[in-house]
Amino acid sequence: MLDVEEIRKDFPILGKGVVYLDNAASSLTPQQVVDKEVEFYQEYRANVERGIHKFSQKASEEYEKAHSIVADFIGASSADNIVMMKNTTEGINFVANSHDWKKGDKIVTTILEHHSNFITWIRVAKRHGCTLEIVKADEEGHLSLSDFEKVIDDRTRLVALTRVSNVLGCITPVKEIASIAHEHGALVLEDGAQGVPHLKTDVKDSGVDFLAFSGHKMLGPTGSGCLYIADSSLYNVEPLCIGGGTIADVSLEGYELAEPPLRFEAGTPAIAQSIGLGEACKYLKRLTMDYVESREKILTKRLFEGLSEIDNVTIYGPSNLNERLGIVSFNINGMNPHDAALTLDSEYNIAVRSGHHCALPLIKELLKMPGGTVRASTYFYNTVEEIDLLVEAVKEITKRVS
Ligand SMILES: Cc1ncc(COP(=O)(O)O)c(C=O)c1O
Repeated sequence: MLDVEEIRKDFPILGKGVVYLDNAASSLTPQQVVDKEVEFYQEYRANVERGIHKFSQKASEEYEKAHSIVADFIGASSADNIVMMKNTTEGINFVANSHDWKKGDKIVTTILEHHSNFITWIRVAKRHGCTLEIVKADEEGHLSLSDFEKVIDDRTRLVALTRVSNVLGCITPVKEIASIAHEHGALVLEDGAQGVPHLKTDVKDSGVDFLAFSGHKMLGPTGSGCLYIADSSLYNVEPLCIGGGTIADVSLEGYELAEPPLRFEAGTPAIAQSIGLGEACKYLKRLTMDYVESREKILTKRLFEGLSEIDNVTIYGPSNLNERLGIVSFNINGMNPHDAALTLDSEYNIAVRSGHHCALPLIKELLKMPGGTVRASTYFYNTVEEIDLLVEAVKEITKRVS
């Protein structure tokens, strides 16, 4: 059995006394990932896919290796399916801008989405005259498959949905929804920002056509992320940007794009960050996602049950713990969530997020809490003792609210 105290030694920030429960916003980074980035800067700092010299060759080799490691981590068939991005948002915008949308095309999304997977589709709909259908959820965040069966039809080009809500922590049935979409010839984009870091991911099993996720939420460097593109779409999508690095040939009349993924990675990419993301995937693979999931189950149970026992605290999201991850949104009744988060930070050194979590449609329409919520979010390196510190702090703070 892996010892969490040993694991915590890999994360120097954890030695600074903070209780870090803002992992859904961004995770911490282990020393191994930092070292890998430093290795690039100190040992083979050069541009990739351009130079003939040894440094460029080595940098290219490491950069390509990172694609293969990420592909393996999400069950993709090859490195060709992996396009390095700076974050989930960029991946989603890539998909939005890489199709020839036609008037009357239908795009289906859900009320659970982060703004990155929501306003993007409002813009596409407005620009191209597409119809945007927004599937609602119940108060705990459950989506009903029959609602998807009703709205997905032969006009539907794309279904874009998250695997896990960043507010409610609920897990959505992406595989089942993908199957309904595919029956109608629609493509499926999974927002994996909260799913890939915490749950085993297998794109072949889920059948999604696109999967966007952020490296910085899964131990990787900031500025790292990825868009997976299934084989069937690799040659059907327009690159978001073109230019240096994306071509096989150029003449006065035109150009021929390079093979994927190079055709999608215009200009000098985020080399160190991408190599760091590969190292982060290696770290998670070494731990195993079974371990990650099992640690988070323990932490989620403790967090949910601890907060549930406090009078004057309202918790949002599924009450069945098997349906959620370690993202627990709550409010101290009668207290602004920002005040609660500020008190937790300044008096208890506990870092949580507060506000609308970039999910205003969910916050306003589903929770009817325009002020938002406090959100505590765990990762495998958190401890039960840290959860208890949060619960005790919240208990004390509630006593101050009359
Ligand atoms: C579900 C979800 N989608 C998309 C994003 C956007 O991620 P990024 O800011 O890394 O692009 C987030 C970030 O919190 C998220 O939680």
